[in-house]
Amino acid sequence: MNEDKNLLVQKGQGSNEELFNEMQDDTLGKKIKHIFAVYFSPTGNTARIVTHVANILCAKLGTTIDVIDYTLPRNREAGLNFSKNDLVIWGTPVYAGRIPNKLLYYIRCAKGNGALAVPIAVFGNRNYDDCLLEMRNELEKNNFHTIAGAAFVSEHVFSDKIAPGRPDVADREEMQGFATVLAEKMGNMTTIPKPIEISKTDVVGEYYTPLGIDGSPAVFLKAKPKTDEGKCTRCGLCVSVCPMDSINEDNPLEVTGICIKCQACIIVCPNKAKYMDDPAFLSHKAMLEKEYTKRADNKTFLPKS
Ligand SMILES: Cc1cc2nc3c(=O)[nH]c(=O)nc-3n(C[C@H](O)[C@H](O)[C@H](O)COP(=O)(O)O)c2cc1C
Ligand code: SF4
Ligand code: SF4
Repeated sequence: MNEDKNLLVQKGQGSNEELFNEMQDDTLGKKIKHIFAVYFSPTGNTARIVTHVANILCAKLGTTIDVIDYTLPRNREAGLNFSKNDLVIWGTPVYAGRIPNKLLYYIRCAKGNGALAVPIAVFGNRNYDDCLLEMRNELEKNNFHTIAGAAFVSEHVFSDKIAPGRPDVADREEMQGFATVLAEKMGNMTTIPKPIEISKTDVVGEYYTPLGIDGSPAVFLKAKPKTDEGKCTRCGLCVSVCPMDSINEDNPLEVTGICIKCQACIIVCPNKAKYMDDPAFLSHKAMLEKEYTKRADNKTFLPKS
């Protein structure tokens, strides 16, 4: 990859496995020299899942690995520019059935330059809807070749009653299986396959409309977290995790900018001072707790050849 500017990149380690030694020199597996785990992840689920998959692939393919976490605004100042010897595992949480719309610009300005890519959508047990398809399409438009894709379930950030503890051991085994089969296939493939098929239709639909407990639309676009002044010690932790830089540094009680409802500030607060009290938001949360506690399945998409 050619980096446009200094990005927050953490070095990881890969180890060669038998598969790497067995591969022919002209396969996609041998062509890949470097893996990037790229993600937006305000509350950490996407980060955990993407790095897990990327680390397994790194070990199987005998490559090196870097992590690019674009959650915070300062890490989005530079664009991304990859090369044809890179494999990019790109993850995003599902928001309203799609890529979080305030972050779409960042995936749109990444240049693939022929890199292979695996889009991963992480969803909170309701549905990933068109998020994975949208990722596939955006990456293909930017000269990435999507060779596989996956939607993995995590706990929903709105409620610890929805998919608690996920991803769990069974999920991690599925991730291991997905990455292992993909590496094996890459070890046999000598040409770049067609874009991975996610659904029979290529058309990305509308954003999901959140529903309330009575089944009618729950409109909470303008909702923002509130702060219990008595509990807040002005430690500033919430300011440092907001992906929109929206919490006032001088007065963390105030959310001055756009709020994407990511919950990072609420979860990070050591004093449980932040909370949501918007009635429409709470009604949506209650609906999710009523209708979406049944274990949802992960979904993986692998190349046919
Ligand atoms: C604004 C918002 C919208 C969401 N929309 C959906 C959705 O449509 N379907 C779903 O299953 N989960 C949805 N989720 C849950 C997240 O996809 C899930 O909790 C994910 O793990 C969050 O990722 P992170 O931990 O990397 O921040 C939504 C979460 C937020 C904050
Ligand atoms: S993290 Fe909690 S205690 Fe710290 S400034 Fe934010 S609201 Fe206040
Ligand atoms: S203010 Fe909104 S966008 Fe910022 S961390 Fe809190 S929930 Fe997320």
